[in-house]
Amino acid sequence: MIKVKKRKILLLPGDGIGPEVVDEVKKIIHWFNKKKSLDFETEEDLVGGASYEKHKKPITDEVFYKALESEAVILGAVGGPKWDDLEFSKRPERALLKLRKELKLFANLRPAICFKQLVDASSLKPEIVSGLDIMIVRELTGGIYFGEPRGIKPIENGERKGINTHTYTSGEIIRVAKVAFELAQKRNKKVTSCEKSNVMESGILWREEVQKVKDEEYTNIELNHMLADNCAMQLLKDPKQFDVIVTDNLFGDILSDEAAMLTGSLGLLPSASLGAKDKNGKMRSMYEPVHGSAPDIAGTKKANPIATILSFSMALRYSLELDKEADNLDQAVQKVLDDGLRTKDILSKGKKEVSTSQMGDAIISKLK
Ligand code: IPM
Ligand code: MG
Repeated sequence: MIKVKKRKILLLPGDGIGPEVVDEVKKIIHWFNKKKSLDFETEEDLVGGASYEKHKKPITDEVFYKALESEAVILGAVGGPKWDDLEFSKRPERALLKLRKELKLFANLRPAICFKQLVDASSLKPEIVSGLDIMIVRELTGGIYFGEPRGIKPIENGERKGINTHTYTSGEIIRVAKVAFELAQKRNKKVTSCEKSNVMESGILWREEVQKVKDEEYTNIELNHMLADNCAMQLLKDPKQFDVIVTDNLFGDILSDEAAMLTGSLGLLPSASLGAKDKNGKMRSMYEPVHGSAPDIAGTKKANPIATILSFSMALRYSLELDKEADNLDQAVQKVLDDGLRTKDILSKGKKEVSTSQMGDAIISKLK
């Protein structure tokens, strides 16, 4: 077997169940290194509340530079009630936002797939969700999350005013639209673009720029524009009408949670945050499960590691050009679900409950 060059992966387990689920990815990386002679080199460091405890900040410059140097970052989860009262700049979530913004990870891919083994876990009727396979592309470095001015300032009468600004430039819209069209090209060739052009100028710009990209470069793709509130409704009514949804940072945050919940199993959904390709075709990237740090079950061995394992599979596919290995891993997950193994969050009658590490081991045993 040919040895490929060393590939640096930075592991940032973070808080709550983050370290437990990332541990299972570590085992899988070890398996690929040993059994497939791949040369992944992993480093691990602190982020979020865990970093705050040691360094009094949610991410240190040193960790940030490690992220900059690595081919892919795998993040567990950040946050927890322990840090809820910290001032804004010190909160665990700021680490996530800094990584996204400063690594320029403008395209956030959030697949919502309803696994056939888990159709009954959805709160929607099986016929509405079975076979569901949507890809949400959320813009991740612009919009109201980062717009200036922002803040809380005193005004007359002793009142205060909270300010956030929603802005988008055409360049920011065009680059994320292209990611969505490229993905649709390899899927069912359908993009739905969501904004609020009925009330927001930035929504009008969004709609116009996405349409222009389609007309100029992707004439074979079907493009529909939809108001974001209508999209929220349509996701519940008839989610299978969608293939790729492209939308801004805030609407994407909300719609992707909704879409995730259609599948009934947040513990299974991965995500990828991607930057622009450089001249060698390489890009910065970060992969993380869609679920949060779930502090209530941290340390109980109940966490579902599948979302993080599938996030690593996305890293294999999108950052490391190892499609075959990604398929291998995705199929191993399917086989374990076929065998009826379930962590607590997706347990149903007649299935066998396993712990976080038993789930990881079972997946490894199915790798080819
Ligand atoms: C997400 C999360 C984050 C966001 C939080 C933790 C800052 O909800 O990744 O969707 O709002 O983007
Ligand atoms: Mg969110």
